[in-house]
Amino acid sequence: MYKMSLMPLFTAEAIQEMVQLLGEKIARNYKFDTIVGVLTGSFVFVSDLCRHFPNKDIKVSFIRASSYGDSTESSGQLKVSLLDELDLKGKKVLLIDDILDTGRTLQKLVDLLKEKGADEVRSCVLLEKRARREVDYKADFVGFSIEDGFVVGYGLDCAGEYRTMPDIWTLESEN
Ligand code: XMP
Repeated sequence: MYKMSLMPLFTAEAIQEMVQLLGEKIARNYKFDTIVGVLTGSFVFVSDLCRHFPNKDIKVSFIRASSYGDSTESSGQLKVSLLDELDLKGKKVLLIDDILDTGRTLQKLVDLLKEKGADEVRSCVLLEKRARREVDYKADFVGFSIEDGFVVGYGLDCAGEYRTMPDIWTLESEN
């Protein structure tokens, strides 16, 4: 069993400030034409972040990637779907995920999007966990950086729960 931290790790206000900063930084530094969000965890982040890019030509698509099942530990097996729907030939892609943890998910997804013909792929995450990287992968645009811990809220879940909460909380084991 898990319990939520007593206080939010990041409040809804702090998240909105960070999303605005990230949006401005990305708009200044990368001219892209396609957003690819990674379901399910990034759906809230994508919807907030994309409204900082008022360019009418930007397309938004989603792929699904999962390796967690119903626990707070990755199974190590990445399942990717919805890729076949994408036409990325010659596109400049902004790949958006919720968290960079071991780095395996984004490293693999960048390779898959390039295999689909994307001209350039840069990635953006709301959060990175510094302590847990297992592969040499850095996201191009990072919001919050935390040491470790399992986090929920603002789209992030544990077994499908907590996603609709506006703040981000740490989940702790009760044992
Ligand atoms: P990797 O290890 O491949 O993991 O970088 C990235 C994916 O793992 C999920 N993840 C989390 N989801 N709270 C969550 O709700 C967490 O603390 C957490 N850590 C990793 C997430 O889906 C991310 O895309």
